[in-house]
Amino acid sequence: MPNSDPYQFQEKTHIELRADTYTLPSPEMRKAMYEAEVGNDGFGEDPTVNKLEKMTSEMFNKESGVFVSSGIMGNFLSMLAHCQRGDQVIIGNKSHIYTNELGGISSLGGIFPAIVDTDERGMLNINQIKSEIQEYDEHLAPTKLLAIENTHNSCGGKPLSPNDINEIYKITSKNNIPIHLDGARIFNAAVALETTPENLTKNIDTIQFCLSKGLGAPVGSLVLGNYEFTQKVRKWRKTIGGTTRQAGILAAAGIVALNNYEESIKRDHDLAKYMHEKLSEIENITPEPVETNLVFFNINADNPGEIFKKLKEKGINGGAETNRWRFVPHYGLTKKDIDYVAETLNKLIN
Ligand SMILES: Cc1ncc(COP(=O)(O)O)c(C=O)c1O
Repeated sequence: MPNSDPYQFQEKTHIELRADTYTLPSPEMRKAMYEAEVGNDGFGEDPTVNKLEKMTSEMFNKESGVFVSSGIMGNFLSMLAHCQRGDQVIIGNKSHIYTNELGGISSLGGIFPAIVDTDERGMLNINQIKSEIQEYDEHLAPTKLLAIENTHNSCGGKPLSPNDINEIYKITSKNNIPIHLDGARIFNAAVALETTPENLTKNIDTIQFCLSKGLGAPVGSLVLGNYEFTQKVRKWRKTIGGTTRQAGILAAAGIVALNNYEESIKRDHDLAKYMHEKLSEIENITPEPVETNLVFFNINADNPGEIFKKLKEKGINGGAETNRWRFVPHYGLTKKDIDYVAETLNKLIN
């Protein structure tokens, strides 16, 4: 995604730091959306969706891909495609699937989660994985899947390396358990580790990744895997009413996002490092190490909720009622914005 100004079409009213999901489509995306060739994707006839699905499955060296509306939808459909009611999935206690997807895999899917500890880098506890694996007998929910998250959101956006994933794969492969990746930010991981998405997902069976986070597209995720798996995902997508028609309008923005992703993701990482540097200079703020685009930090104040409110009055949207805050630099923000944020925060805290 080129670095052109996303505020050509609407005014920048404030500095938005809550997430990388607040990006506006770039002028290039808007043009591609306007010009997109479309058809009925419900029948597999939208050429732009087909192009995006083919392009992304090739990028990850998987057989096939399905365009879906969101990350949560992609994870949920993947779980349904892997598991039957009463099957068990092993997931991390801090994973987005476990903590932030409303327990949908259980409430709607009847899938039973076995929870294992996640360390501060987002890595799952290997011994706990071993002890949670269950084969079917009349008392036990059989383990049919293990899911990881890379980069790991609540663990500070840190990337798991191919070696980390291999540690998990050594166990799952012995037990014939596939690995699903919640790769909402897998491109951030690949750029941070200076590797390719393909290299990072060699031992992973199925993937959900988001176009609408750091990649900057307005809508959409891809689910990737072998043909049999993606056919199941299509079936479940239809079941929950998630099949769309002339979705090429949206897929077109995704294609623009993926062309030159290295450049745009790297720009976000550089901004995040700059933000880390600026926050480190402020008394009573302790930033956590930054490896990708998520900047977590601790605020030493009795009234973080008050500071959060006052920040908003100064045109900065970000923070929390608690002492651990997350700011997310993204497309459309500048170093000047970050200088203003640091300056304002310093005045409010000290
Ligand atoms: C790691 C992770 N997975 C999945 C999602 C869900 O994506 P969406 O908001 O597109 O449903 C998010 C959203 O922030 C996320 O951080």
